[in-house]
Amino acid sequence: MAARETVDPGEPVLGSAARHSSFSVMASEKSQDLMVTCTAPVNIAVIKYWGKRDEALILPINSSLSVTLHQDQLKTTTTAAISKDFTEDRIWLNGREEDVGQPRLQACLREIRRLARKRRSTGDGDAFPLSLGYKVHVASVNNFPTAAGLASSAAGYACLAYTLARVYGVEGDLSEVARRGSGSACRSLYGGFVEWQMGEQADGKDSIARQVAPEWHWPQLRVLILVVSAEKKQTGSTVGMQTSVETSTLLKFRAESIVPERMKEMTRCILEQDFQGFAQLTMKDSNQFHATCLDTFPPISYLNDTSRRIIQMVHRFNSHHGQTKVAYTFDAGPNAVIFTLEDTVAEFVAAVRHSFPPAANGDKFLKGLRVAPVLLSDELKAALAVEPSPGGVQYIIATQVGPGPQVLDGSHDHLLGPDGLPQRDL
Ligand code: DP6
Repeated sequence: MAARETVDPGEPVLGSAARHSSFSVMASEKSQDLMVTCTAPVNIAVIKYWGKRDEALILPINSSLSVTLHQDQLKTTTTAAISKDFTEDRIWLNGREEDVGQPRLQACLREIRRLARKRRSTGDGDAFPLSLGYKVHVASVNNFPTAAGLASSAAGYACLAYTLARVYGVEGDLSEVARRGSGSACRSLYGGFVEWQMGEQADGKDSIARQVAPEWHWPQLRVLILVVSAEKKQTGSTVGMQTSVETSTLLKFRAESIVPERMKEMTRCILEQDFQGFAQLTMKDSNQFHATCLDTFPPISYLNDTSRRIIQMVHRFNSHHGQTKVAYTFDAGPNAVIFTLEDTVAEFVAAVRHSFPPAANGDKFLKGLRVAPVLLSDELKAALAVEPSPGGVQYIIATQVGPGPQVLDGSHDHLLGPDGLPQRDL
């Protein structure tokens, strides 16, 4: 059951919209105030966040840095509606109603209402025109498999924070709201290259995301997601990192002595478009993160045999070329995220097809950006020296760096109907 917000006694119900009794009338007349739909991107960390110093506030033990992926390929879409006719807060994820009482959802809702109340009491800008006691309905969909290791919670909570902020008229940095849903979500609030500064304060006010470079900064950069397994992961990141903080001495060493320097070096590589440096550090940081997982007791392993074959293949591909042309990174799951430059994409995709021949879906193997088919040279085939593993990689999503959250303008974009319930075709 939802934890209910109490209506401020004597709080004036402002705005003409609130005086209408039917939600459908309100939605059509004042749709901007009452129903908002936004999208938010997935991000992939190149300096990983792993471990919290405060579980409730979701404050990390180290800073992290990520690349925001393009929403043409991967995104969450969220609609939030507020009405005096709603009797409780409700949420639907991918068409199914979920428990709105989940602590992280409640934390986001509480935070956004607190900010809206603060804005109203300080008379800051156009305050929210309705009673803050009114209930909210939220519907959210992903255009990619949830919990497949594709950072769905980051896009999901970033989208929730951004959409709620729009509907409640809250402005400014939303790191604090998104972070309360999922730590990595605060990095999905911006496009391009984004750092999450760990901060020092106990209340987390300085633990915020910041854009390092915009999405147009490095146009040649390409991202390939090699989907190894679309199944739900075994150890969730929240529980995994908790055990790592409790048991891994390597994690403590990494957070204190390795990451601070790596953050500076990664920022330099991005600003200077130094691909070799960027790629090597990305791979080293992924490997170190997975080493801390193995150093956790009992150990956690997110990589599987296919992940390890991909790692080997990337290193062989690079040594064949005598330079680092491709990098891998893995989060809390077996899927690989590959970074490369535009001029290398086609050859690398051909190398993946050679090493992991598509099972039955040859034509659906590559999704997203178009990649021209090329033939591999016999030299490269020999250098890869692999026993092909058919079906090891289920499919590839080709994408690039992209922008942060967006507001969708058209009323046809809403996931909730005029009655505040999910549209049937969700
Ligand atoms: C391996 O943000 O999912 O993807 O804060 O507990 O929700 P919670 O964890 P989450 O952890 C992501 C971990 C990671 C690395 C990263 O994205 O930095």
